[in-house]
Amino acid sequence: MPEVDKEGKTYYEDIPQRGKLFFLKGSTELDWGMKNRLSRIFNPSDGHTVMLAIDHGYFQGPTSGLERIDVNIVPLLPDADVLMCTRGILRTIISPDITIPVVIRASGGPSILKELSDEQIAMDIEDCIRLGVCATAIQVFIGGQFESRSVINMTRLVDAGLRYGIPTMAVTAVGKDMVRDAKYFRLATRMCAELGAQYVKTYYVDEGFETVTAACPVPIVIAGGKKQPELDALKMAYNAIDQGASGVDMGRNIFQSDSPEGMMKAIKAIVHGKEKPEKAYDLYQTIKNKKN
Ligand code: 5RP
Repeated sequence: MPEVDKEGKTYYEDIPQRGKLFFLKGSTELDWGMKNRLSRIFNPSDGHTVMLAIDHGYFQGPTSGLERIDVNIVPLLPDADVLMCTRGILRTIISPDITIPVVIRASGGPSILKELSDEQIAMDIEDCIRLGVCATAIQVFIGGQFESRSVINMTRLVDAGLRYGIPTMAVTAVGKDMVRDAKYFRLATRMCAELGAQYVKTYYVDEGFETVTAACPVPIVIAGGKKQPELDALKMAYNAIDQGASGVDMGRNIFQSDSPEGMMKAIKAIVHGKEKPEKAYDLYQTIKNKKN
């Protein structure tokens, strides 16, 4: 016979059950698994993230800085909150004992030699589950030649993700001839959110970026874009966070820097430590000079 449980005054009938609102914009109504994965991507203490994007090879091949991911990128991982990469790189180069979450590139098809908006979903949701990823990433080409298809591809990935609690990050891709202004990014980011993306990656614009983040009901992270001088990239990250972005998903401005490690730490100081760009730049220089 099991021992009879002793009744005690442990029910606290006068205390309403505790619970708190979810910390991330637009995510309160999501299911537990989805929220748990988002909490691994975005730090619950400040709602921000530093994602290291190294997925460029899926359409560009071994772009500068990513020729040897084992040599140049793996040492940066301890300073990243999240790794964004393809399943090929994950399985061949990245050790499964990493503790940071992975956001997986799940679209692809055309190379830089062809029309880039001609992408498809390039991965089954079952493989995302098998790899234990925290989110999928897919390109959306608003205004591009294959606009509708890329949008519908995104909605299909969102539907698959909803079945298993895996968030979808929509990436607003900009064609060569497209105007990159706040009006365009308000349209692109809002469409992605309205059609179900749990968060959106977009580009920073100097004028009106705060209207892009305000009009988008889910978190926004910014891509770094083409390599710029380090201080300019740090100013961009600072301004983006200041104007409502929830983080960065940055690649070239980190791995093409003369001190990728210095840039990682400097970006982190801005995104999580609210450091001013000039101070973060000092940090980058200190780390760079120490290594030389
Ligand atoms: C490719 C991507 C990249 O991950 C993205 O552009 C981030 O890299 P970068 O900071 O170099 O722009 O989504 O389409």
